Amino acid sequence: MLSFCLENTVPLPPAYDSILSIQAYQTGKPIEELSREYGFNYGVKLARNENPMGCSPLVTLAITEQLGQLARYPDGNGYYLKQALADFNDTDISQITLGNGSNDLLDMIARAFISSDDAVVYSQYAFVVYSMVTKMQGATGIEVPAKRYGHDLDAMRQAVLECNNVKVVFIANPNNPTGTLLTTEELRDFLQAMPEHVLVVIDEAYIEYCPESNNRALLDEFERLVLVRTFSKAYGLAGLRVGYSLSHPDVAAVLNRIRQPYNVSRLAQAAAKTALTDQDFIDRSRASNAEQMQWLKQQFDALGLGFINSHANFLMVEVEGARAVYQALLEQGVIVRPLTGYGLDNWLRVTVGLPEDNLRLIDTLRSILSES
Ligand SMILES: Cc1ncc(COP(=O)(O)O)c(C=O)c1O
Repeated sequence: MLSFCLENTVPLPPAYDSILSIQAYQTGKPIEELSREYGFNYGVKLARNENPMGCSPLVTLAITEQLGQLARYPDGNGYYLKQALADFNDTDISQITLGNGSNDLLDMIARAFISSDDAVVYSQYAFVVYSMVTKMQGATGIEVPAKRYGHDLDAMRQAVLECNNVKVVFIANPNNPTGTLLTTEELRDFLQAMPEHVLVVIDEAYIEYCPESNNRALLDEFERLVLVRTFSKAYGLAGLRVGYSLSHPDVAAVLNRIRQPYNVSRLAQAAAKTALTDQDFIDRSRASNAEQMQWLKQQFDALGLGFINSHANFLMVEVEGARAVYQALLEQGVIVRPLTGYGLDNWLRVTVGLPEDNLRLIDTLRSILSES
């Protein structure tokens, strides 16, 4: 059904009701603006699950080499990056689709495989973009209640089997914002139960932090499976926007029909290809994350705050009056993520930072909590 954008004062062409039901993605103000507003000298940004160690120094070099070519379009097929990804993941090049960040792939999957007559299954507390792209297509979202803050795969399977118009299932593994992880065995059991017309998307944005997971093996077993990955997290390239999916070549061929021409920039392609070659950087990032995560958990324990065990580079911590605590932290230069949008009113999501960032977070949090 069409309706006019009544909330706007400017007369606009009609937008779909389903589009108007989408909340715009919240990203917050730039840190420079916040420091001007609240008068702090330096800020600590623990809100977007970025790699606090930056990126591999080899990447910076690779980008510099491209600077003389900025007038030229990038390779529209991303041939060399796809070749590097195929080697890295032991797949064929035809199984890879490149995206302008992994959100671009989630968007492509929705546009290609979901129509307004369809239903889409995802979990309560799962990454917010799944419900956004579902609404964007005018489809019905089936949000399955979470189990201990993670995906309840039995209930999700039930939801798929009870409703014959489910076309896509989105699973974040590890999940954002809760950090919970499903095992490959659990995922395999789930995939085995899926009817033929259902595409399962496993979003592995944080998979580099979980070396124990090997869902790549599932690709050889299930033709209607898409693994979505990103260079925004452990690889430290969020500012460049590059992600990819691994799937059966037929799925990739469909996605490539609707992929925007030149959707991954020249700098992003060169950076991602080089980043893959520096797995030492990933190992160091993973080790630092594990050590600092452990330290943060001990500090939360000492402050009497509950948290959910996380397999990614962030922790969800339970704080009464989380919104007010978020604001107080913000005013003192520590930026974390409130989770009211997920219905998690008493929780904050904190990205694991460098030791000095984490210390500042804990000191500031301790003083805020002692005053309340
Ligand atoms: C689970 C998950 N998937 C996908 C994304 C999108 O990341 P990007 O578009 O930067 O690759 C994020 C970012 O926070 C995420 O947490």
